[in-house]
Amino acid sequence: MSARLGARRPIVIANWKMYLGAPESLRTARAIRVLLRRLGRSVDVVLCPSFPLLAGVRDVLGGSRLQLGAQDLHAERSGPYTGDVSAAHLRGLVRFAIVGHSERRRVHGETDQSVAGKVRQALGAGLSPILCVGETAEERNEGKTIARVREQVRRLLRGVPSFSISRCVVAYEPMWAVSQGIGQPALQPDPKEAAEVMRLIRKVVADQGSRSFADRLRVVYGGSVEAKTVRPFVEEQGVDGVLVGAASTIPAEFAAIVKTVAACHS
Ligand code: PGA
Repeated sequence: MSARLGARRPIVIANWKMYLGAPESLRTARAIRVLLRRLGRSVDVVLCPSFPLLAGVRDVLGGSRLQLGAQDLHAERSGPYTGDVSAAHLRGLVRFAIVGHSERRRVHGETDQSVAGKVRQALGAGLSPILCVGETAEERNEGKTIARVREQVRRLLRGVPSFSISRCVVAYEPMWAVSQGIGQPALQPDPKEAAEVMRLIRKVVADQGSRSFADRLRVVYGGSVEAKTVRPFVEEQGVDGVLVGAASTIPAEFAAIVKTVAACHS
């Protein structure tokens, strides 16, 4: 695949969810670091362990090009929110934070409105939010994918200044495509259809603000990505990388995904 990315560097994000315990997280980070030691500057790689393991994984990654992200943050700056983590807690520790993941929407009842608050908090603290959007199976079956994703992107980015847009990453993750666990991939969309939705995401952002900032926004695909399925997605125009859940907990598998993305974008 020829170079066609312009200024956008591809990005591969590992979302470890609640899969790995403490020793496994550190071991997995170490193994990924070793496997990707020759990785150049052609791709950004972000590991997102659970909150208590951020500091430990940061120490493992020190001096490497691998970056750290959180799996969530709170929509308010501070307050009486037992068990929650604010953007200020994360500042200085991570560069990225996933917001609006479908599991948080489904299990914790997060809405576009609360996720929009998270986007604002992340940006205000100097972090790069990774905004997850995507339709349910029902919405897809009713032909509402485009309308739903358009609505989510508009709501999540409403009021975000254009100059902050290029700091965001949008992850298109159809909810029905997210795997049920390690070794349990779900169905995936046709890569061409997914890429079409992802180009729409960039267009919505451009229509809402400035074209040049939208051109710098990275849009990635997520949902049951594995080494054997990643290529057709990242070969599509306008797909800037992937968000990987289950497969990112297996170092060799994750490293193979990163290498495929780097190769497709070189
Ligand atoms: P999956 O998860 O790769 O296990 O489907 C992706 C995600 O939910 O971020």
